[in-house]
Amino acid sequence: MRRFLTALLAAATLGAFGVVWSEEQAAAPADATSAPAAEAAAPAAAPMPTEALTLTGNAEAGAKIFAEGKGEAPPCMSCHGEKGLGDDNMGTPRLAGQGFVYLRKQLYEFAADRRTDTTMGVMNGIARALSDQDKADISAYEASVHEDALAAASNLEEIKAAGSVQVGEKHLGKGIVLYGIPGKNVPACSSCHQFNGRGALPVYPAIGGQRYVYLVNQLKKWKDGSRANDPLGQMRAVASKLSDEDIYNVAAYLTSAPPISVGNSRQPHQPEPAVAGAAH
Ligand code: HEC
Ligand code: HEC
Repeated sequence: MRRFLTALLAAATLGAFGVVWSEEQAAAPADATSAPAAEAAAPAAAPMPTEALTLTGNAEAGAKIFAEGKGEAPPCMSCHGEKGLGDDNMGTPRLAGQGFVYLRKQLYEFAADRRTDTTMGVMNGIARALSDQDKADISAYEASVHEDALAAASNLEEIKAAGSVQVGEKHLGKGIVLYGIPGKNVPACSSCHQFNGRGALPVYPAIGGQRYVYLVNQLKKWKDGSRANDPLGQMRAVASKLSDEDIYNVAAYLTSAPPISVGNSRQPHQPEPAVAGAAH
């Protein structure tokens, strides 16, 4: 408990610790207060040095950084939760069980300002505080965590009651995940992200079992182009055809989408080796 409080304090000193429920806040363009890190560094032309691709991640070292922080980087768990399952009040994602290559890619892209954290304005600075080895270690740790795939499912009733983020209809979202919206040329999310969004690593991250508020935020960012680090513009193309209603519906279904179907007990979670991998 004590350690957790210290972690919270460390995050607070970053000066951006706050509750982000509201869509206005989440969608607001980065300004001096919401994204202090963005001014600091010039975007690097190559976000991931090729030598970094050869580094092997050490999950134990990653677990330590996750819980205690390192140097300028605060403990990740102060915002991503003790078990890395994310938090809807802060708009943070679940990291536990996500792919190694995908997580490491995001850390490099935050560090190079190719992706901007407009939700709390902290991730760009945090990623810059991590060395190449730290990035590999933390990604290896999170990829190795085997929590129940639905442990992070958001409590939609609570979010609805809080009233700052609209909550969609799961049954409408299910259709989009499995079949897309043929009339609008929206492909099925599962055609890239696998059954119920359980992930097709290394390129397509797990989106099933992800936090509701985070999913809504990211889909809106892909839609308005404020997140543009997707290979080949795949997500921007998909999200540009989604209405806000579609986004709420698809996120409502995905947050608690079971990763396997009835009668198919195949374990979908196959952690990637935390070693060299394609930087897609
Ligand atoms: C002060 C709060 C805070 C702390 C501390 C924090 N994060 Fe984050 N993190 C966030 C927020 C907010 C987002 C979502 C950004 C957005 O909406 O684009 C995020 C997003 C991420 C993502 C993107 C995940 C995805 O699915 O694309 C990664 C990876 C990540 N954080 C890793 C870390 C690591 C590693 C640490 C510790 C060294 C850490 N974070 C510490 C707030 C925090
Ligand atoms: C054509 C392939 C493709 C399709 C179809 C697709 N996606 Fe994606 N999606 C991607 C790729 C690639 C990424 C990873 C982007 C990156 O590397 O940052 C991604 C990332 C995401 C993320 C961000 C995950 C995170 O942790 O930050 C969300 C949310 C998402 N997709 C939702 C959806 C939804 C909802 C649908 C269906 C409406 C969908 N995607 C359909 C290719 C696709």
